[in-house]
Amino acid sequence: MNDTLNNIEKRRSIRSFTDQAVPAGDLTTILEAANQAPSAHNQQSWRFVVVRGAKKSELASLVHARAGDFPKASSALLRMAARSIKSAPVVVAVVNTGELIHHGSNLFKLSEEQSFDFFRTMEIQSSAAAVQNMLIAATSLGLSTVWLGVLFLIKDEVIEFFGEPGGEFMAVIPVGYAAKESPGPGKRSLDMLVRVLD
Ligand SMILES: Cc1cc2nc3c(=O)[nH]c(=O)nc-3n(C[C@H](O)[C@H](O)[C@H](O)COP(=O)(O)O)c2cc1C
Repeated sequence: MNDTLNNIEKRRSIRSFTDQAVPAGDLTTILEAANQAPSAHNQQSWRFVVVRGAKKSELASLVHARAGDFPKASSALLRMAARSIKSAPVVVAVVNTGELIHHGSNLFKLSEEQSFDFFRTMEIQSSAAAVQNMLIAATSLGLSTVWLGVLFLIKDEVIEFFGEPGGEFMAVIPVGYAAKESPGPGKRSLDMLVRVLD
């Protein structure tokens, strides 16, 4: 296997981190990798917000405080997310700007509803590619990550916290060195997932 495939296979979600800081150069490398992702119309309608220090503690407290407002399963996931945010030396949030939605709607002259649906989906897909680039780049540098989607449940507060009003919540990603490596959950085999039409 080559290095790229090795890193794709090696990446696992890690939810607990050591105190070791993430070198500034490595963080830049990870963000550069995210920014190299394909994006519809090359709009790069993503923003990356780096959260650390006191702001990161504030974010962890915000998530923990809101966890109790939700039923058991989601509140447990929110509490776990708060612990991951607290334990990681740095957190990267990904926010969609809506620029692609505006750009595409002007370009395509579809109905408002159709173009919103289409370009919002394209925007989410573009940012998901950026997030995955980030996770793989981090793995290649010996760093670990977890994609925290559960913060969507409190998206209005976290978007405001990130200072991106008008943006759409995409992902929050703690980045650091794994406190403990994890083999991760097993994956279904390809024969359950692939159909060939010939
Ligand atoms: C869109 C998305 C949202 C996710 N949200 C969460 C989350 O909120 N909390 C969490 O602990 N893991 C979250 N994960 C990580 C998944 O649980 C994890 O990827 C899955 O269990 C497979 O494990 P692996 O990443 O180690 O292969 C999310 C992953 C994706 C792709």
